[in-house]
Amino acid sequence: MIKVTFVAHDGHRFPVEIGEGLTAREAALFNDVPGIDGDCGGQCACATCHVQVDPAWIDLVGHLAADSMEADLLQFAEGTTAESRLACQIRLDAGLDGLVLHVPEQQY
Ligand code: FES
Repeated sequence: MIKVTFVAHDGHRFPVEIGEGLTAREAALFNDVPGIDGDCGGQCACATCHVQVDPAWIDLVGHLAADSMEADLLQFAEGTTAESRLACQIRLDAGLDGLVLHVPEQQY
């Protein structure tokens, strides 16, 4: 199991566990983490799964590829930062065990 902690804008922490190979979107939805809706089913088409990767983890997760569909979509999300990613595009493996993701205030 992979541990992921979602941190709300008010500092409330939601630690969850999920099987390897699933996505951070699924980690949030399967555990009722508020602020992550994932409306498009993980198809990179809605941006309702916007998260900000904790700075300590961004190099492991990987920065947004500038010319990607994910980057195009995040242009329309509010509260984006250099650490912004779509949770549906973060596939969880053993190297990301302990990952910390922040849910932007605008997601609520
Ligand atoms: S779930 Fe729609 S973009 Fe991630």
